[in-house]
Amino acid sequence: CQSLNSKTPLTVCVSGAAGQIAYSLLPLIARGDVFGRDQLIELRLLEIKPALDALHGVVMELRDCSFPLLTAIVETDDPMVAFQHADVTILAGSFPRRPGMERRDLIARNVSIFKAQGHALDSVASKNVKVVVVGNPSNTNALVLSHFAPTIPKQNITALTRLDQNRAVGQVALRTGVRVDQVDGVAIWGNHSASQYPDVTRATVNGEPALPKLGGRQVVAEDFIPCIQKRGAAVLKARGFSSAMSAANAIGDHLKSWILGDSKIVSMAVASDGSYDVKRGVYFSFPVRCVGGGDYEIVQGIEMDEFSRKYVSATTEELFAERIEALELCAA
Ligand code: NAD
Ligand code: LMR
Repeated sequence: CQSLNSKTPLTVCVSGAAGQIAYSLLPLIARGDVFGRDQLIELRLLEIKPALDALHGVVMELRDCSFPLLTAIVETDDPMVAFQHADVTILAGSFPRRPGMERRDLIARNVSIFKAQGHALDSVASKNVKVVVVGNPSNTNALVLSHFAPTIPKQNITALTRLDQNRAVGQVALRTGVRVDQVDGVAIWGNHSASQYPDVTRATVNGEPALPKLGGRQVVAEDFIPCIQKRGAAVLKARGFSSAMSAANAIGDHLKSWILGDSKIVSMAVASDGSYDVKRGVYFSFPVRCVGGGDYEIVQGIEMDEFSRKYVSATTEELFAERIEALELCAA
């Protein structure tokens, strides 16, 4: 369990620390928006060598913010230094998809990164470290990391699907004309990819079923679900860069729920345990209940109709296909 103690700095490591997401995320963490307004923070920032100058600029800015909670900042290109005694690790550094790259090529480039980082995490991080993998393909990168970090409990490694949940809640609110805090019960199942299943079958708007207000199942299938599945690509096309502000905000939400607890059910990609017929072996987004202190449980007993099952099995299949490719590369 992650017991926060405001007098002892929480050691937070961020990889890809000179990147776009980190630029929005670091001030949230250092200001106390994620772990609490009285929680001291030590930041350990990891980058690749060519980005160390840019990282130094980010560190200068962090110092210029004079955040009272920030006790120390380490900048490095060595995961063994970055992950030293880490309590929380956010892995945003990964190899981006380039035009013409197949999924296997992307997985291959990232296997080598997450293999090295898994070894380092296993060697030098706190055994209780809480990890959120953000760099894509995030669910499978989490799997590779866990494979090479055997002494870190699998349930301490997660991948980010809170952005997908926030997107889905935002769209339900927009489409039904309410505020986001009037929407409840939205869940994300599966992979952080276009195969994910943004599930509104049990969602409510002001306590009433959302599905009819969204136009019913057919409209949801033809319009709402693809909108969420392709939202990342749409932002990338419009901005020329992938989502960064909303990703950083979602990382903050994910960690806040996980570490501090949350009365609402939230979506996180976690090690599958056989729930909902998703066999062990992949990191899969489920609705989870965060009970505080860094513990969570996958919500059980959700009745799934044929409509939902079809989507859940498609995203499960994709994750197991990625798993086969990744494990072959891990063994090579
Ligand atoms: P970015 O390109 O701006 O930054 C990535 C940074 O990672 C770069 O500075 C790069 O130098 C660094 N990096 C690369 N390899 C590294 C390594 N081995 N160790 C440490 N750092 C390394 O990208 P971004 O916008 O910050 O996005 C980061 C990742 O997050 C991308 O993979 C993106 O696709 C993904 N993403 C995921 C979600 C999600 O919801 N899971 C949402 C948005 C973006
Ligand atoms: C997102 O969902 O915004 C990102 O995962 C998209 C991407 O490919 O970086």
